[in-house]
Amino acid sequence: MPGTILQANNLVKKYGDLIAVNDVSFAIEEGEVFGLLGPNGAGKSTTIAMLSGLFPPTGGSATIGGLDVVRELGKVKQIIGVVPQDLALYPTLNARENVGFFGELYGLRGKALHARVDEVLGYVGMLERAKDQVKTYSGGMKRRVNLAAGLVNHPRLLFLDEPTVGVDPQSRNHIFESVERLNREQGMSILYTTHYMEEAERLCHRIGIIDRGKLIALGTPRQLIESLGGGIIQLGLAAPDETVRAAVEALPAVRSASYVTAEDATPGEQDPSPATDGKAILKIEANQGNDALLQVLHYCNEVDVDILSLDLLEPNLETVFLNLTGKSLRD
Ligand SMILES: Nc1ncnc2c1ncn2[C@@H]1O[C@H](COP(=O)(O)OP(=O)(O)OP(=O)(O)O)[C@@H](O)[C@H]1O
Ligand SMILES: [Mg+2]
Repeated sequence: MPGTILQANNLVKKYGDLIAVNDVSFAIEEGEVFGLLGPNGAGKSTTIAMLSGLFPPTGGSATIGGLDVVRELGKVKQIIGVVPQDLALYPTLNARENVGFFGELYGLRGKALHARVDEVLGYVGMLERAKDQVKTYSGGMKRRVNLAAGLVNHPRLLFLDEPTVGVDPQSRNHIFESVERLNREQGMSILYTTHYMEEAERLCHRIGIIDRGKLIALGTPRQLIESLGGGIIQLGLAAPDETVRAAVEALPAVRSASYVTAEDATPGEQDPSPATDGKAILKIEANQGNDALLQVLHYCNEVDVDILSLDLLEPNLETVFLNLTGKSLRD
């Protein structure tokens, strides 16, 4: 049985009155890719900063490999790799010199250092350009060198903070494949933050959804999506009518139906502005999306209820987030 590589207990970080991380607890199992998914300002980087010892938490505690991240930080640093959101590279040095600098911090010298630097640069596909100054690289290539730097000490747990933001598709694919290989071939545990739900869905065994410092959902992508059942239908109607709501809720493929305000309605995938033209928005959680839609339309047709707008939300992680917070993961 593999053990727990990371355990975070009730982590809190305050900046004055702002609670950037608010009572966050989760665990990462050895060999797991764990995703922290949340919009800008959710508290992802602050969580990583506390877990990697950049600053201590205002409250709560955490262990990595059984070691306390505050009291035993020196030992913790030996077993973690950190790839920060902001690049930490010297632009006038080349890739080999940059990664070599990190290797020296971990006590590597001479041939061992040279071999390890080449190994990690090869891993991220940057060996060919290793002698060029970092400032001549694309954003994606810089990210890959940053990833190489985070790997130099053979970490058991790797922190990857939004590694694909501002990255061209080719480098992005490279980063994905590197993460998948590190996990599969080396059993490396990974904490991956992103606000792209497709990335979290593809890469992560389990996902924690974070918003305004709070962990609001936790589970496998499938568990989180299944919590939605068959997706959500939003109908714009002329006025709220309890008879209509109750009749819709009684339809076999419908789980629940309630009126929401325009602000609380979920922005649609196609139509980013919710059904504000309707005076009432009936939010319908479906058991089976397609069946529910047919049944709702059939009912509205039969009793002559005018539908002013219609939004269909697929069951996916974006909808999970929207449903919990009433806002989009994207900005
Ligand atoms: N040094 C700081 N001083 C004051 N407030 C801060 C500081 N760093 C972060 N914050 C605030 O803490 C909250 C969480 O920020 P954090 O950087 O952890 O979010 P994030 O989820 O990483 O967002 P992003 O996706 O934009 O990187 C935000 O409201 C941010 O403005
Ligand atoms: Mg961040």
